[in-house]
Amino acid sequence: MSKDDVAFSVENVSISYPTSRGWVQAVRDVTMQVRRGQLVGLAGESGSGKSTLVLAATRVLQPPAVKVEGHVQIVGRDIFKLTKSELRTVRWKTFSFVTQSAMNALNPVMRIRAQMHDAMRAHDPDYSRSKADRRCEEVFRIVEVPIAKLDSYPHQLSGGQRQRAVIALALVLQPQLIIMDEPTTALDVVAQREIIALIRKLQRELGFAVLLITHDLSLLLEVADDVVVMYGGRIMESGPSSELLRDARHPYSRALIQSFPPLHGPMKRHEGIPGSPPDMQNPPPGCPFAERCASAIDVCSEKAPTLVSWRERQIACHVAQTDVADSEVGV
Ligand SMILES: Nc1ncnc2c1ncn2[C@@H]1O[C@H](COP(=O)(O)OP(=O)(O)OP(=O)(O)O)[C@@H](O)[C@H]1O
Ligand SMILES: [Mg+2]
Repeated sequence: MSKDDVAFSVENVSISYPTSRGWVQAVRDVTMQVRRGQLVGLAGESGSGKSTLVLAATRVLQPPAVKVEGHVQIVGRDIFKLTKSELRTVRWKTFSFVTQSAMNALNPVMRIRAQMHDAMRAHDPDYSRSKADRRCEEVFRIVEVPIAKLDSYPHQLSGGQRQRAVIALALVLQPQLIIMDEPTTALDVVAQREIIALIRKLQRELGFAVLLITHDLSLLLEVADDVVVMYGGRIMESGPSSELLRDARHPYSRALIQSFPPLHGPMKRHEGIPGSPPDMQNPPPGCPFAERCASAIDVCSEKAPTLVSWRERQIACHVAQTDVADSEVGV
């Protein structure tokens, strides 16, 4: 794969938060990619490091608030090397970011049209009022919100409409990558699914890349091209959704898939995952999931498994790596 095919690339990234009790190691040695035009899902329980990864990778979180190691490229730009003004031009135009509290992305005392104009005025050298108005209407049509709502304040929209307005704002400068951190948490299940379906449709039609974060692995497996599963700050397994859905290899991804009802198919009993995530202040030396893992062997709590490529996917699990190695012998 050439460098030009990659919209978002994270290489050996580790991120820690300084606290009065020492460092919280929220993300540990993560490597992942989103190719151009691809929708990649990032899943994992609360506290697994998903938001930290994208906040630091886009420099929304910067030192001294965090310590960051590794490399991040977004559409060919080395993010950690950009000056502040370069970063301002890259944001919105090259990539946009819908944060976990998307409602906060809108200014409550400004009409939505004015907010979209502000973004265009700041980033588009050919900005003109009439051109910006046309673009506002175009993106509102795309996200299926009545044009009249452009002249409303955020509180005058329903939750679903507000969320769509945030997506419209993210689209307005036609970025090549949109990062969305739980863009639907505040919505009911039906509205959530509608928004995710809309994101998928737009991504296919307009060709931008999406990194979509959600807890809901079953939803991601339906809509994403690839899925990355994180736990305890590390990647456990990643690969094409169809492969993970058919045959997840990491005990954590299996457990996570088991704990969500599928969107289609017969009803069956769903198991939660017993236990709780590790303390990231003192992460265990081995696999972060070892303590909760029914398949764990001695080495799991002693040594962290490395992320190993297997066919189209990557797995960090001592047990699964032995299993796949055994299965290859007979091939
Ligand atoms: N400002 C902070 N200071 C110290 N620790 C933090 C801070 N923000 C997050 N953490 C810790 O970093 C780890 C990762 O948190 P993060 O918010 O990235 O998880 P997440 O996967 O996005 O979870 P969720 O699904 O709940 O949004 C957690 O252990 C969390 O407690
Ligand atoms: Mg989060």
